[in-house]
Amino acid sequence: MLEEEYSPARRRPFHLRRIEPPEAPFSYEIRPATARDLPDVRAIYDHYVVNTMVTLDTEVKSLRQWRSTFAYVTRLGLPFLVAVSPTGQVLGYAICEPWIQKRAYRFTAEESIYLRPASTGKGLGKALLSALIDAGRQAGLKQLLAVVADSGAESSLALHASLGFKETGRMGRVAQKFGRWIGTVMLQKSIR
Ligand SMILES: CC(C)(COP(=O)(O)OP(=O)(O)OC[C@H]1O[C@@H](n2cnc3c(N)ncnc32)[C@H](O)[C@@H]1OP(=O)(O)O)[C@@H](O)C(=O)NCCC(=O)NCCS
Repeated sequence: MLEEEYSPARRRPFHLRRIEPPEAPFSYEIRPATARDLPDVRAIYDHYVVNTMVTLDTEVKSLRQWRSTFAYVTRLGLPFLVAVSPTGQVLGYAICEPWIQKRAYRFTAEESIYLRPASTGKGLGKALLSALIDAGRQAGLKQLLAVVADSGAESSLALHASLGFKETGRMGRVAQKFGRWIGTVMLQKSIR
């Protein structure tokens, strides 16, 4: 090693130092999804379908399928929310869908929530799921369910537990993705 490599780095004069801009605060608005949000919603979900086992879908959904889901939940009056950055970027979404398509189950919905990877771990999931719970209650729902993979979905389990969801059952090795068997954890919250 050369002697100068051991010497401390030279500091620029004060007037030439780069001033780092302060990190922008993480802010967002939560609002009902519109048809124009669906391409972003689709891109967020695609990431988890292709790369993870937190969803047990193995094929990405087409925009046409998302439009159909949007039209269906809108017709039923079920909530479909997005969180949007001040610049209009969709950071995540949460949706309630019918649990079973039989009239007797009309007060029960299955919810799901997905955030852009860069938006996780900052409290947005809790804010968005809380807003979905409120919207579900206003829509007349009484029970919310979530079906979570039993491995690799720790943040989802933690989020649901923090909002009072209780585990009501487990099924072992009921799905296979990426050549691995996966079980599911059933979570439930009464919102009456
Ligand atoms: C699951 C997901 C929505 C959670 O949202 P998030 O913004 O990351 O979570 P938050 O920062 O709001 O944290 C909510 C709570 O869970 C806890 N938590 C979050 N991730 C955690 C982790 N990996 N391990 C332990 N605790 C965790 C937080 O500490 C917080 O607890 P608190 O309220 O007691 O302080 C988000 O991580 C995500 O989109 N993940 C990928 C998709 C996914 O798994 N969706 C659910 C499919 S069932």
